[in-house]
Amino acid sequence: MWMKLLLLFGFWNIDKKFVFGLENLALNKPTRQTSEYGSGLISSNAVDGNLRNDDYSCSHTKNRTDTPNWLLVDLEAEYEITSIKVLNRREHNGDRLNNFTVSVWQYDPGPHIKYNMVDNENCICVHYPNTAERGTWTNLTCTKICMGRFVLFILNYQEILSICELEIFGNIYNGCSTQYLPEMNIKKVEGKRSSSPNCTLLPYEVVNVYECIHQCLQMNNCISFNYGPNLINTVNCQLVRCFSHPKQDFTVDSDWIWRYLSH
Ligand SMILES: *[C@@H]1O[C@H](CO)[C@@H](O)[C@H](O)[C@H]1NC(C)=O
Ligand SMILES: *[C@@H]1O[C@H](CO)[C@@H](O)[C@H](O)[C@H]1NC(C)=O
Ligand SMILES: *[C@@H]1O[C@H](CO)[C@@H](O)[C@H](O)[C@H]1NC(C)=O
Ligand SMILES: *[C@@H]1O[C@H](CO)[C@@H](O)[C@H](O)[C@H]1NC(C)=O
Repeated sequence: MWMKLLLLFGFWNIDKKFVFGLENLALNKPTRQTSEYGSGLISSNAVDGNLRNDDYSCSHTKNRTDTPNWLLVDLEAEYEITSIKVLNRREHNGDRLNNFTVSVWQYDPGPHIKYNMVDNENCICVHYPNTAERGTWTNLTCTKICMGRFVLFILNYQEILSICELEIFGNIYNGCSTQYLPEMNIKKVEGKRSSSPNCTLLPYEVVNVYECIHQCLQMNNCISFNYGPNLINTVNCQLVRCFSHPKQDFTVDSDWIWRYLSH
């Protein structure tokens, strides 16, 4: 059943030219930058699909400020970001593109972006400590797959930020992607099942444990589930849905394996 859904989803995407992560998600999306330089060097130049790399086809913040300069892209939906590509200016000012960090946010970090961001506020896709080559692309794979809607490109030092094109790649986040799974640790407690009186148990019949995991990831407030290798009254997966984090409350039961997700 799960494989069928995946296949349908795949074909549907191919029709729409969205072939698993090959589409540039940033293209023509809303953007914002620290400051406007003027002369038409607006932030949207970084996502307009124009791949020229002369001074006038790029985004451009004002001159040096006391705080680092950044450019923010709103992808207008949640994605799992897997890689980015940045096209640099071709003349000597291209050397300004160095020591940058690309982070992903689930909410708009607002006009006041903090510079000492802690890890639970955003997810760092990639940190690039080097100087990007002039006039060409720097293509970077995220060192961690990040889920979110807003992508922030920030220079880690006080210099003008100018980007000729920023391309962002990833997969739509629909709560059931397999790529998100390696980021999560699925802990296992054999011979027990969760039975907290404060939680609702939602029963399912699934093909295997992965389908049970996927069901849980799609469900708000599902943080753990019981899986039994054998059907009991047509049920082998119980999603444990809680509105507050329950105490770890178990029943000893050799037919079940209790599992929970930890990030
Ligand atoms: C930026 O700085 C340069 C050199 O310091 C100066 O010539 C230019 O007018 C400044 N531009 C703006 C928009 O402040
Ligand atoms: C980087 O991306 C650009 C634009 O898609 C592509 O033309 C180039 O071949 C890529 N470079 C590398 C080294 O993969
Ligand atoms: C990059 O920026 C960080 C943060 O400001 C700084 O600590 C570090 O020294 C910089 N690295 C380079 C290579 O400039
Ligand atoms: C259930 O909720 C009550 C009230 O919030 C709390 O006192 C109790 O410890 C909870 N029980 C478990 C097993 O989490």
